[in-house]
Amino acid sequence: MGGYNSKSTSLQSAGSLTAIFSDSLKFKNYRLVINFENYIIRPLEVSDLESYFDLVDRNRKRLEDFFTGTVSRTKDLVETEMFLIELTAKRDSKQYFPFILVDNSTNEFIAFIDLKNLDWTIPKTEIGCYTDTKFAGKGLTTKAINLFLDYCFEHFGFKKIYLRTHYSNKPAQTLAEKCGFEKEGIIRMDYKTTSGEIVDLIYYGRLNNK
Ligand SMILES: CC(C)(COP(=O)(O)OP(=O)(O)OC[C@H]1O[C@@H](n2cnc3c(N)ncnc32)[C@H](O)[C@@H]1OP(=O)(O)O)[C@@H](O)C(=O)NCCC(=O)NCCS
Repeated sequence: MGGYNSKSTSLQSAGSLTAIFSDSLKFKNYRLVINFENYIIRPLEVSDLESYFDLVDRNRKRLEDFFTGTVSRTKDLVETEMFLIELTAKRDSKQYFPFILVDNSTNEFIAFIDLKNLDWTIPKTEIGCYTDTKFAGKGLTTKAINLFLDYCFEHFGFKKIYLRTHYSNKPAQTLAEKCGFEKEGIIRMDYKTTSGEIVDLIYYGRLNNK
C-alpha cells in the first residue's frame, strides 16, 4: 500500500537499533541485488533521478489515490531529487528501503518496490510496490516479489512481511495471494487518500516459517 510513508518507526530508540544491527551480520547485506532472467532488483539511488521520475510520471494517474507521498513529492525533477535524497537518508538509518526492478537489456524501470514501517523489535516490515502499466498484468511482478520476499526474509531476518491494500484493488489482492500472503483482516479507517478520504484497508501477512 502506498509509496513512501512519512510515519517513522517509533518503536525503537537509536541505542536498541544499534544493538540489533551490530548483532546482525546478515544486515550488512541490506544493499541487495537480485538477478533473474533478464531483470535485476536493486536499491534505488539518487542517481536514478530521471528514470525514477519518468516511471512515476507515466503512472501518476493510477498512483494518485494510494501513493499520496510519492505523487505529491515528485511534481518536477527538482522536487523529485529532494524526495530521493530523503528516501536514501532513511535507508541509511534503517527505516526505509526503496528498490527498483530494471530490465537489464533496455535499462527501463519496470517497478518500484519498497520496505517501510519497519519494526526491528519483531522484526517485521510492510512491502509496497507499483509496476509500470506497460509491464503490468504479465506475471512479472508476482515473480519479482516472490524472489524479493525470499531474499528479504533471509537477509534482513524478518519474521513477518505484510502488505496493505484497498478492497477495490483487485490486482494487488491477487498479487498478495500469489506471493504467499494470507489475508489477516480489515483495519478500519487506516489510510487517508490523496483526495482526503479515509478508507479501510485489507491486511495481508506472510510469515517466515524457516
Ligand atoms: C498491483 C500491481 C503491482 C500488480 O502488478 P502486475 O504486474 O499486474 O502483477 P502480475 O502481472 O504479477 O499479476 C498479478 C495478478 O493480478 C492480475 N491482474 C493484473 N492486472 C489486473 C487487473 N487490472 N484486474 C484484475 N486482475 C489483474 C493478473 O492477472 C495476475 O493474476 P493471474 O496470474 O491469475 O492472471 C499493479 O497492478 C500496480 O502497479 N498497481 C498500481 C499500484 C498498486 O496498487 N500497488 C499495490 C499496492 S499494495
